[in-house]
Amino acid sequence: MTFPPGFLWGTSTAAHQIEGNNVASDLWLLENQPASPLPERSGDACDSYHRWREDLDLVAAAGLDTYRFSIEWARIEPVPGQVSRAELEHYRRMVEGCLDRGLTPVVTLHHFTSPAWFRAAGGWAEPDAPGLFRRYVRAVLPVLDGVTWICTINEPNMVALMHAVLRDGVHPGTSGADARTLPPPDQATADGLLHAHAEARGELAALSGARTGWSVANQDFQPQQSDDPEVAERVAQTLADWAWPREEQYLVASKDDDFVGVQSYTRTVVGPEGPVPPAPDAPRTLTGWEVYPEALGHAVRHTASVVGDVPILITENGIATDDDEARIAYTRDALAGVEAALADGVDVRGYLHWSLLDNYEWGSWRPRFGLVEVDRESFVRTPKPSLAWLGERARTARGAS
Ligand code: NOJ
Repeated sequence: MTFPPGFLWGTSTAAHQIEGNNVASDLWLLENQPASPLPERSGDACDSYHRWREDLDLVAAAGLDTYRFSIEWARIEPVPGQVSRAELEHYRRMVEGCLDRGLTPVVTLHHFTSPAWFRAAGGWAEPDAPGLFRRYVRAVLPVLDGVTWICTINEPNMVALMHAVLRDGVHPGTSGADARTLPPPDQATADGLLHAHAEARGELAALSGARTGWSVANQDFQPQQSDDPEVAERVAQTLADWAWPREEQYLVASKDDDFVGVQSYTRTVVGPEGPVPPAPDAPRTLTGWEVYPEALGHAVRHTASVVGDVPILITENGIATDDDEARIAYTRDALAGVEAALADGVDVRGYLHWSLLDNYEWGSWRPRFGLVEVDRESFVRTPKPSLAWLGERARTARGAS
């Protein structure tokens, strides 16, 4: 027995990347402004705002049991203090749609996008931001009745980084920026996010049976090897000064949570001056990242070393590729790392693959992360072999546990 009974197997998505026409959001504004720094716009995205039933059917039919999606704050509260009843009902129907199909919903309350008015007022760095977030969380409580996994904020470490990137006028995609040219994350934003998370947790305590946590982007920082002890010492210092603070403070905050979400894609090798690019012959994905499935096993182990007994849910892991065989190989190898960590006693509760659909990757449609292809004109969904493969993997694991 490797995967424990009740281990969750599913896929992960985010509202802005699949719903379409998220017109009251800050990202929509950015995408549609003249001379936008984003090369492509989200537009209709995958039209999942209307086709979510079909999406849930695909997950369930594959034999998976969990679906992670996000509620869009900009839809719930397009104008400050004005809550849309219709949008609350929309997301409630999605929660019930999951439960009706036997799918465990994992609901994210903030996945990168905010209402345009929130950003215009200064975003997370403003003193009233945590209170505004708490007000939104209070408004969505009725949607969350019966939801057992709630992720408050997706990748707060990337949100703080993107804030700095946008402020400094660099391309804002999580996958587009060259790590060596990144500014330091914005600490005022980081503090606002940490505070907002704590406020949300307070509000969500009203729900019975809900586990609350957030999802942290794990970079699998690795020291560049050197035989020169002086260089090795500088590398260790760079890791301590530059790399770890980018994610550590968010993991430390997770010690008070019911679970922590791990999101892992690749590794970052750190040299004396900062990140070192992959070797020229290293295989790369469509986002330019090194193909390195071992990162997931490292990520869950590192997370456990910081959070102690707090259970881990892998809320994202995947690969941007046109080669579905490569997706299967990557996922198989990533899961081998999870199995080894489980065997060593790391408390991992589930694996959610990023992503169900080929979707809008924050400025570009080119990176294809989906287990399902989506026709950009007709929105017709065509499952790739990797979807059936993951369903089969889940069935085998359940049979063995
Ligand atoms: C993490 C983010 O949560 C998600 O939105 C993004 O698409 C993936 N990384 C891939 O870059």
